[in-house]
Amino acid sequence: MTDFHFDPDLSRAATLPSQCYTDPEILRTEQERIFGRTWQVAGNLEQLKEKGDFITTTVAHEPVLVTRAEDGALRAFSNVCRHRAGPVATGCGHRRALQCAYHGWTYGLDGRLKGTPEFEGVANFNKEDHRLPSFRVETFGPLVFVNLHADGPTLAECLGAIPEETRRWKPETLRLHHRRDYELACNWKVYVDNYLEGYHIPGVHPELFRQLDYAAYRVELFRHYSKQHAPVKVAASVYHRDLAEGEAIEAPVALYYWVFPNLMLNLYPDHLQVNHILPLGPEKTLTRFEWFAPDPLPEDWAAKFAENLAFSDAVQQEDIFLCESVQRGLRSRTYDRGRYSVTRENGVHHFHGLWCEVVGVSPEP
Ligand code: FES
Ligand SMILES: [Fe+2]
Repeated sequence: MTDFHFDPDLSRAATLPSQCYTDPEILRTEQERIFGRTWQVAGNLEQLKEKGDFITTTVAHEPVLVTRAEDGALRAFSNVCRHRAGPVATGCGHRRALQCAYHGWTYGLDGRLKGTPEFEGVANFNKEDHRLPSFRVETFGPLVFVNLHADGPTLAECLGAIPEETRRWKPETLRLHHRRDYELACNWKVYVDNYLEGYHIPGVHPELFRQLDYAAYRVELFRHYSKQHAPVKVAASVYHRDLAEGEAIEAPVALYYWVFPNLMLNLYPDHLQVNHILPLGPEKTLTRFEWFAPDPLPEDWAAKFAENLAFSDAVQQEDIFLCESVQRGLRSRTYDRGRYSVTRENGVHHFHGLWCEVVGVSPEP
């Protein structure tokens, strides 16, 4: 179902056809071409500090293992034993070597096959030929990313100016403080679309609307990501004096980045909040919220965080209600494609353009 066209001109474009949000075949294509070829968060750097630390995860249905090897380097591998596809490692932890849970083959932290019990007499078998296949691995701040695809842009290329613009948060020093998962009855793109525009804020988030300078809200587009400027009205707590350039200037300290396809980095004055948007099925999505904070925590942290968490949850519940309703709407007999607000939905159009590019939808002839 990629036989539609997509107009790169926002003012003329129509949104993605409904089927893109419901079809299991589309999700299979996305797993292959999007999640199988982009930088996906595999875990937190804190779990991989010492030599011998390892974590396991799944990226685009691929079992993945990340280790801090003996040489101190981070490495990512397929977590599939070369014998009969058992799990080389489970969960996370600290080991000198990894042992498959099935028949006990052992592997070094560098992916090399080391031990194969009771395997004498097997013809034409060299351990050297049975290394764990490796994947690209890189880090940004507290996050460890894996890319299953050998080619394509580096993580740094995908993040563009984000590391530079977030330097004052010292992202690499932040530690995971809290995590909350939400399961939604909608396609993952419904949630991402919703995140990428402030157009729904007046109608859906009355409290958030009161706090934001809606007129000044805008979305800036980059090759692999977009950035939302959402200045907050309450001056004292959300504006700060940026002395980096010598001259004191007032600047909003909340920054919202979305990195194609499914990562959101929300930087607030005293913490980083990360959203991971993971498809569980064509109409089922996990949104994982993680809060990263400085260590040690600021003194007044606990009360502020409780308030922050409650507000974030309220906004999320408002979004869930809308996203799940939209999913039902996309199933309607009467709806297929809509149009974009040029003022407010350039971020959604940008996402859809990237989606079409990767999935292989041709531009409007
Ligand atoms: S599958 Fe791993 S040892 Fe048999
Ligand atoms: Fe929202």
